[in-house]
Amino acid sequence: MKIQTPPGMRDFYPAEMRLQNWLFRHWREVSRAFGCEEYEGPIFEYLDLYTLKSGPGIVSELFNFEDRGERRFAIRPEMTPTLARMVAARANTLPRPIKWFSTPRMCRAEKPQRGRLREFFQWNVDILGVDDVLADAEVIAVAIEFVRRIGLSERDVVMRVSSRPIAASVLAGMGITSDEEANRAFGLIDRYDKLGRDEFRRQWQEFAPAVDCDRLLAHLEQTDLQHGFSLAEAAGPAGEAAAKQFEELWQRLRQFQVDSYCAFDLKVVRGLAYYTGPVFELSARQGGLRALLGGGRYDNLTQLLDGPRVSGVGFGMGDAPVLELLTELGKLPALSAGLDVFVIDAGSELFPKAVEITSQLRRAGFACDFSYKRQAIGKQFAQAEKRGARLAIVVGAELAESGQLTVKDMRTAQQQAVAAAELLADPLSTLGAMR
Ligand code: HAM
Repeated sequence: MKIQTPPGMRDFYPAEMRLQNWLFRHWREVSRAFGCEEYEGPIFEYLDLYTLKSGPGIVSELFNFEDRGERRFAIRPEMTPTLARMVAARANTLPRPIKWFSTPRMCRAEKPQRGRLREFFQWNVDILGVDDVLADAEVIAVAIEFVRRIGLSERDVVMRVSSRPIAASVLAGMGITSDEEANRAFGLIDRYDKLGRDEFRRQWQEFAPAVDCDRLLAHLEQTDLQHGFSLAEAAGPAGEAAAKQFEELWQRLRQFQVDSYCAFDLKVVRGLAYYTGPVFELSARQGGLRALLGGGRYDNLTQLLDGPRVSGVGFGMGDAPVLELLTELGKLPALSAGLDVFVIDAGSELFPKAVEITSQLRRAGFACDFSYKRQAIGKQFAQAEKRGARLAIVVGAELAESGQLTVKDMRTAQQQAVAAAELLADPLSTLGAMR
């Protein structure tokens, strides 16, 4: 019986795994560069953790199950509720600010499509305990530093930034005042890009026929930052405060030197229910790809979990959408298997010596291998090439004659004779420079 990979799940053969490791290395290095520490949580949580804020509607988007004790769990679809739970549990002892990152595997019961899977990894960076947009700007800067490092420019991606309070003020100015109505409006605005103008207009008419959709669209389609500020300021005291906060955010983005990647966009309101302040999404500029990253400020999550109030801001970035975009732009890195040295014997009688040398190099920290087959030197070189080795060491007859080995740089094809005793006494300094 042939059994396939379940829909929306992936197998990672070594070639794909190399790419995953490359991505994770950048996620980790960038997080650390910004002073963030790594954390992890469990792969499944009590279902209540997710329904608490989002309501029972979320259950259909989750993989959930019951254990034999009839407790209901769900495989984590995101990390933020786990993070809030962990922080709430130790809120009084954790040193502030809390600057944490994680790269969890998660599952969502989605209809699989390009860049959206049922199982994926998501890089999360969050700063908690800071009631200042400095933290919002910094998490955006973390994300931009990552995209810069993987070779994506302002022409490839844009960080669309908005603010829930500004959007709420604008809606309030148009007569949408209750939280419930505003949340429904956010849900619709969140799908604007997917629905398109006409369908959005149709659904808006159904939802709020008394609110002039053209006026709303005129605001939503404005990307001028100043327009955003004046819109909010015109919307009463709450709007004024939101506009001031937003202006400060933009100043910080300039100081972090990431503002060239950022654009004001009132259409970004984010689907998740817990956001309370600035919100943002990183989107590919071309080709109908959905967001590469989404995040924002959430100031009440820990209280919801019976903890003290600890404000937070952060984002999640999926591995699949990023790799999808890099593939599309032809910007995937060429990654070798990462072998440092391939040891070649010039005759089967020299193979035991080759194994010894391999062992010594491995002990010295080199990724080192040899051929399992006793075969001609040319074939062994072909294997070294195929395995992506940086260097090849040939163990030949001259080892017995003059104590020398031949080291070949596989990239330049240059060869040089090296004294075996010297090389084995200090492989790092002899080979390190060549690696
Ligand atoms: P989210 O918008 O649900 O936010 O997801 C954030 C990102 O995760 C998306 O932009 C996308 O890159 C990736 N993602 C989501 N679903 C999938 C999927 N099915 N397959 C592949 N990638 C996916 C959150 O999850 C928030 N918890 C983020 C956050 C952290 N907010 C504050 N801190």
